[in-house]
Amino acid sequence: MTIAVYPGSFDPPTLGHIDIARRAAGLFARLVIGVSTRPGKAPLFTLDERLAMIARELAAAGIAAEVRAFDGLLTDFTRAIGAGTIVRGLRGAMDFDYEQPQAALNRRIGGGVETIFLAADPALQPISSTLVKEIARGGGAVDGLVPPGIAAEIRAKLA
Ligand code: PNS
Repeated sequence: MTIAVYPGSFDPPTLGHIDIARRAAGLFARLVIGVSTRPGKAPLFTLDERLAMIARELAAAGIAAEVRAFDGLLTDFTRAIGAGTIVRGLRGAMDFDYEQPQAALNRRIGGGVETIFLAADPALQPISSTLVKEIARGGGAVDGLVPPGIAAEIRAKLA
């Protein structure tokens, strides 16, 4: 299977996301970034903003990937685009505990679709969209956690 999906909320995209996308793009013939239309928590950025941000930052980083929104089940999206693999980044044991049942159930309901996990780069391991937003809401600097353009957009959104 040479088509992979890297799904997420990307609210906002972080340097960790960009690193996983770069590494995944090197492993598959085609990488599709699946941006969830319905993130679990109330998103800071709209779907259109999240699509535009991740597409722009991938292009800026020279990463060959398509960006698409998906609604509903991830496995319906993987089936629709003919992807056999889901890519997720793992920062630590808590991520694994969250991801493992989803990988197992996606395989069960998704016709055998596999999830592969890429271990986060140690330098990027503590970064999450949630903590980036928390730092920014508290007035802290998020430079070095997200691409520079994203940091500016977070500041503008919270201003
Ligand atoms: O970046 P996130 O918020 O960790 O991404 C989570 C996401 C969007 C990948 C996950 O919530 C998801 O796959 N949502 C789609 C709904 C779905 O298929 N749920 C069943 C999982 S077994």
